[in-house]
Amino acid sequence: MAALDGHKKIEKNATLLLALSFAVVTVGGVVEIAPLFYLDNTIEEVEGVRPYSPLELAGREIYVREGCYVCHSQMIRPMRDEVERYGHYSLAAESMYDHPFQWGSKRTGPDLARVGGRYSDEWHVDHLTDPQSVVPESVMPAYGYFSDRVIDPEHIGDLMSTHRLVGVPYTDEMIEQAQYDFVQQATDFGDDAVAERYPGAQIRDFDGNPAVTEMDAMIAYLQMLGTLVDFSTFTPDESR
Ligand code: HEC
Repeated sequence: MAALDGHKKIEKNATLLLALSFAVVTVGGVVEIAPLFYLDNTIEEVEGVRPYSPLELAGREIYVREGCYVCHSQMIRPMRDEVERYGHYSLAAESMYDHPFQWGSKRTGPDLARVGGRYSDEWHVDHLTDPQSVVPESVMPAYGYFSDRVIDPEHIGDLMSTHRLVGVPYTDEMIEQAQYDFVQQATDFGDDAVAERYPGAQIRDFDGNPAVTEMDAMIAYLQMLGTLVDFSTFTPDESR
């Protein structure tokens, strides 16, 4: 068996084995990695996915600041038990504007990728203020101080510019109107222009307090999670 004899030679010569293994891994690596440099986008675009509105983005910042991702994932895996519990599995596009992404790696609490619309705003206020008041066995910490902290939107435009720097397609208009949109979205009967700039944005006073607090921003963020894609019409692109 000539072919096997050849192989014996490779197996008995450590240097040759190493050199050939290296060659195989190099070729494999190039084949896998090189095409990525020529693709504009490796994420399938999905209708409905848009950048965060200023208020939602502020809520997301608080989510990151407080380390909510330590106990909560935002990544529904395509497995039956997860899909039955949390809804449609997460699409890459749904976190394409997340910098950094919030997939998480541990679930002390439930996945939050589709928590939007699952509870009322009042429920969220009660739950964030005192989790055990609505879920007696909860081990989640209380975040009542969100209600006391009024957010000055002075820097929200800068934050959006920073996100633009890493690829989020905020327009000049969005950045110019950031402070206005921020306040309007947290107001009952706020300006519809916010929903024109950010389709699907929910506009209302989220915490019942006229001042725009961290509670408003957090609830605006939680209530939009997983709501942008309409899964009754979504069909995966099988060609990719
Ligand atoms: C120490 C772990 C821990 C941290 C940190 C934590 N949570 Fe939770 N969270 C839980 C647990 C456990 C539950 C389930 C019990 C309950 O509903 O309180 C939960 C439930 C939730 C729910 C309800 C989800 C559902 O589908 O029922 C939301 C919303 C939520 N957390 C938001 C947050 C936010 C926002 C933060 C950060 C400000 C946060 N959590 C931080 C542990 C945590």
